[in-house]
Parts: sequence; C-alpha cells; structure tokens
Amino acid sequence: MSTVEQKTNAAAAALEYVEDGMTLGLGSGSTAEIFVRLLGARIEEEGLKVQGLPTSKETEALAREVGVPLMPVEHAVTIDVTVDGADEVDGRFHLIKGGGGCLLREKIIAAASDRMVVICDETKLVETLGRFPLPVEVDPFAFTITAKKVFDALRRAGVKRPDVNLRRRGDGLEPFVTDGGHYILDCACGEIPEPELADAELIDLPGVIEHGLFLDLARVVIVGEDEAARVMEL
Ligand code: A5P
Repeated sequence: MSTVEQKTNAAAAALEYVEDGMTLGLGSGSTAEIFVRLLGARIEEEGLKVQGLPTSKETEALAREVGVPLMPVEHAVTIDVTVDGADEVDGRFHLIKGGGGCLLREKIIAAASDRMVVICDETKLVETLGRFPLPVEVDPFAFTITAKKVFDALRRAGVKRPDVNLRRRGDGLEPFVTDGGHYILDCACGEIPEPELADAELIDLPGVIEHGLFLDLARVVIVGEDEAARVMEL
C-alpha cells in the first residue's frame, strides 16, 4: 500500500477534530494538502462553517480552489485546531518540520493553536530525531556567517558531524527562498540527541529566523496505516 493512501487515512481521521465555527490552521506539504481537499469537500457537502489560516502561499491557493473560507491573517489572534504534516515525529511528539520550506509560518500558527494535530504516514515515525535534515530558516544577509554559527551550535548540542547546506531551488542554481523571503539551511545531523538543547542553541543566533524543531507543540499524532489510522493523544 502506498504512502498516499496512508496520508489520506490520516487526513480523513483529522476531520474528526474539526467542529462548526472553528478557526483552523492549515498546514503545508502533501499530507496537509489532502486534508485541505477533504475539508473543502466536507464544507461543500455539509455546509460546515469554518475559517482557515494557511501556513503557505501554496496552501492559501489550494484552500481558495477547494472552497475553504480564509480568515484575513491580520485578524488572527487565536486558533482552535491546526492540522499539519511532519517530516519526523518521535515518541514524545517532538517534530522536525520544514521539508517544504514553510516552517516559520507553520510554527507561528501551531504555537497559537489550542491543539496541533499532526498527520503523517508510518515512514515519519522515528526513535530519535535527525535522520531528516533539520531545516533552519535564516536571513539571506551574510548567510555563510550564520551557517558557521549554526554548525557550531549543533556541535554544542551534541550533533557529532553536522553538515550544513544552503537549500537551492529545483534548478540547483538559485537559493530556495521562503514565503517570508528567507533562505533555508538544511542541516544533516544523523541524530539530534537532545532536541531541547539544539532548540536553545539555535534560536538566539543572529541571522536565524526559526528552525524546524517543533517541541511540545503537537498534542495529537495521527499515523495513517494501510486500512485505517492510528490516533495518539498526549
Ligand atoms: C512543510 O514545510 C513541512 O513542514 C511539511 O509539513 C512536511 O515537510 C511534511 O510534508 P509531507 O506531508 O509532504 O510529507
């Protein structure tokens, strides 16, 4: 069975957390995309009344396409539920996110939400975070200086041999630029033994805007399986 079916099962199960009148954070990436499409279908079929807050320009365009009403982002204060994907999920519901480059907006929305529901396929579950390269969003100005600081910070956090690379666009020539106009440093770590320490070391570095460690944000993880979905709550 393909991961697409697993993602679809997870996204469908997340609809259980949606209620009439809610403000919903709409995540980014392929799993969140399936959720937004299913949400659009439910709005059309049942007349469900919700307002969405998208975490990327791509999700915003999709939400408009499938008929999910959007709240103007400058009106947003609190969010009931955010449904988003993840690149890795550990047993404490700590996450790595940002594979799609949307981590800043995703973290702003997740941190403002009463409940963050993560939807993923089984391949995302790990014992220790770090197999997926950690995305770190940085200001483009003198990013090579910031990259060295990020390398040193990861070493202090116990990562043995961090490999810090500027993310490039598909053509491989130009840097990838986020919706917020920043660059991404993808940091291959192998293992991040102490995510809390890595968070503390990275977050105050000059030039670092945000990083992809989402600690203590997810309250629900829904893992899509071949025939159903496994719902885990903290
Ligand atoms: C986007 O920046 C990411 O955080 C995604 O949520 C994450 O990469 C998961 O994406 P998929 O659902 O496509 O695996």
